[in-house]
Amino acid sequence: MSGDFLALAQPGVQQLSPYVPGKPVDELARELDLDPANIVKLASNENPLGAGPKALAAIREAVGELTRYPDGNGFALKSLLAERCGVEIDQVTLGNGSNDILELVARAYLAPGLNAVFSEHAFAVYPIVTQAVGAEARVVPAKDWGHDLPAMLQVIDANTRVVFIANPNNPTGTWFGAEALSDFLQDVPAHVLVVLDEAYIEYAEGDDLPDGLDFLAAYPNLLVSRTFSKAYGLAALRVGYGLSTAVVADVLNRVRQPFNVNSLALAAACAALQDTEYLEQSRRLNEAGMQQLQEGARALGLSWIASKGNFIAIDLGRLAAPVFQGLLREGVIVRPVANYGMPNHLRITIGLPAENARFLEALAKVLARG
Ligand SMILES: Cc1ncc(COP(=O)(O)O)c(C=O)c1O
Repeated sequence: MSGDFLALAQPGVQQLSPYVPGKPVDELARELDLDPANIVKLASNENPLGAGPKALAAIREAVGELTRYPDGNGFALKSLLAERCGVEIDQVTLGNGSNDILELVARAYLAPGLNAVFSEHAFAVYPIVTQAVGAEARVVPAKDWGHDLPAMLQVIDANTRVVFIANPNNPTGTWFGAEALSDFLQDVPAHVLVVLDEAYIEYAEGDDLPDGLDFLAAYPNLLVSRTFSKAYGLAALRVGYGLSTAVVADVLNRVRQPFNVNSLALAAACAALQDTEYLEQSRRLNEAGMQQLQEGARALGLSWIASKGNFIAIDLGRLAAPVFQGLLREGVIVRPVANYGMPNHLRITIGLPAENARFLEALAKVLARG
């Protein structure tokens, strides 16, 4: 008799649904027999500019060394990040995307009998990494689509080890200010590690958003995670980082895969960090695209959740799934977010002006069909 290997998986894993990524262009092209060149993908919060020229040049140079293992300590990138972020090199943890950092935290600090706290409508990876290690996911109802930080404090108990908060949050784009973050950090018990996920911070820096790094020195239970996947345009390479105390970084380093960040990613990230022009261009493009999408949504009589990310959740006022399907038939891929408890919204990544226009035209057409 063979074993039931679903039933044999640990209970937290049995209850998980796999992460659903944005639909790849080639998949849609295959399914609907469309020309991939005519498909617009605004579904995964990627940078529509493509990787920057400096990153691409660094990759070309690094290709020659593919036979060698990468620098397992990521010295060059960690040094640059430490300098940039005003921390010591031993406070930096590199990850295979910032997802990896979230997973390292869960593996190091969570276990059956312990719990992690996060918000309703928060990033889908928080429940995955929590349940994957058999810990309890405590989901706190959102307030106006955003994190209700005081309510999150209320559910923390002696068995809470981690709180995940995203600023801005994906898929809602909601954010909290410096005062709210400061109040929260002051009240979180010292035994709870606060993971402040700043995957989109570069789009909103200097705006109403606090810079998590400003709080690191005062709060040894704070870890700030960031990524090169969004504003730095390197999603395919998978590179992100965490900034924390050296103690937390040491703990994460114990459970990390020895070569979790590959050589091309290390080289490209170093170059991207120094390409301030590309970053500025990305921000400007995002601001203009956000305006364009908001104006377009307004013209169609639709509302949206105000967002500080490179995406916007538009409220269709009715079930979004059929509209998503209709958009696919028009060659436009966006992201349905029913799995985030938002069945009436679609999340649209800000694209190039022509891509945004193409989405708005397709949306008008699909909505007109009723
Ligand atoms: C809020 C948030 N955190 C983390 C990530 C992880 O991104 P990556 O692993 O590419 O760094 C994402 C990606 O969508 C995100 O939206």
